Amino acid sequence: MAQVQATKFKNPVVNWIDSRLPIFTMLDHEYNHYPMPRNVNYLWAFGAIAGIMLVIMIATGLFLAMQYSSHTSLAFDSVERIMRDVNYGWLIRYVHANGASMFFIAVYIHMFRGLYYGSYKAPREILWILGVIIFLVMMGTAFMGYVLPWGQMSFWGATVITNLFSAFPIVGDPIVTLLWGGFSVDNPTLNRFFALHFLLPFVLLGLVILHTAALHVCGSNNPLGIDPKGPQDTVPFNPYVTVKDGFAVVIFLIIYASFVFFMPNYMGHPDNYIPANPLVTPAHIVPEWYFLPFYAMLRAIPDKLGGVLAMFGSIALLAFLPWLDRSKVRSCKFRPIYRQFFWILALDALVLGYAGAMPAEGAWLIIARIGTAYYFFHFLVLLPVLGKLERPSPLPNSISESVLKGGGGIAAGAHAKPMEKA
Ligand code: HEM
Repeated sequence: MAQVQATKFKNPVVNWIDSRLPIFTMLDHEYNHYPMPRNVNYLWAFGAIAGIMLVIMIATGLFLAMQYSSHTSLAFDSVERIMRDVNYGWLIRYVHANGASMFFIAVYIHMFRGLYYGSYKAPREILWILGVIIFLVMMGTAFMGYVLPWGQMSFWGATVITNLFSAFPIVGDPIVTLLWGGFSVDNPTLNRFFALHFLLPFVLLGLVILHTAALHVCGSNNPLGIDPKGPQDTVPFNPYVTVKDGFAVVIFLIIYASFVFFMPNYMGHPDNYIPANPLVTPAHIVPEWYFLPFYAMLRAIPDKLGGVLAMFGSIALLAFLPWLDRSKVRSCKFRPIYRQFFWILALDALVLGYAGAMPAEGAWLIIARIGTAYYFFHFLVLLPVLGKLERPSPLPNSISESVLKGGGGIAAGAHAKPMEKA
């Protein structure tokens, strides 16, 4: 392995530690000098935003756990106590509950950015697959977290989703009993969901560290999808990207705060303020909004096992994208035909999401079926075929050439000149 040149720091204590455990050199290389393509846009801030959301979720979750009771007879009331009696409990809970939605918004934008600019292609396959695993773990964590307040949607959501496993022949029923820790969703289920909901964010943290380590091996992609050819194509991460990411984070946090302070229950379901009752089924059992497209796929298939396979398959499929996409060109900017289909896929995801919130009958069921079929058609047929048939537009020679055309180069020089004269 190549030896990394140790950084000399002004602070002698830092130097003393660094010569024994070079963490400061590592941070300096990875987050100070790390070369970023000079043309990345604001969509490249969503990785950092997702990272900040993970930290916010762990911090607020820890304080909620100090006041929460994971027993079926106490859980709902303990959450109400947090809301009414614990100092700033309402704030911590609303930051956590809305944080889950904001986390998914950030990660969905992050994923669609990757899809549009072909960031999943070589050499970033492992980075992408780690992303798909992160997404799955996030979904599991969010699902179990939603069960904890022990409201009607918590209970019935847990019942519907855990029951899905019974669709598998032979092993199905024993798996469901194992998940429940008994013969229905009950106290052991709530307890294990709490334990796992506490654990999984730390697993996520580990995965995110691997994700960024894999990124720093091959470097960031950029809107042109071509590799930097030298220092003229990149800028150091600090201060250029730290400032840009910082600005995006502030705007994101303002939007997040406006939900927390002005419409804290907008993204939740009112039925979850009714204590869980195994004897009363809600009129419509709907998951949180970020699961809706997958829920639509689950219900679109008339066969239970088929629905379960379609739902999990739709996510597992993403891990194979680097090999399903046969095009040599990464960015949709240079793929005039695929670009149109990308937007159709985005629309398909929205339509599926809407269909997932509607009762699974009549026109909405048909729409969900068409949407599900299109989703698989996009990835299994369009992506491989178009990769071979489409003729991409010509790629620029380099990032700097593309960025500086139209006067950018003069502007860069112009910054220095008046200063020199002065
Ligand atoms: C907890 C969730 C996640 C966190 C904290 C996270 C963090 C990051 C960070 C900090 C970066 C570098 C900055 C950037 O390019 O935006 C990055 C890049 C990337 N992430 Fe994630 N990520 C998460 C989830 C995902 C998921 C779910 C996927 C895909 C399924 C994914 C795929 C990628 C790819 C392909 C890149 C490289 C992008 C490029 O260079 O163009 N990430 N991630």
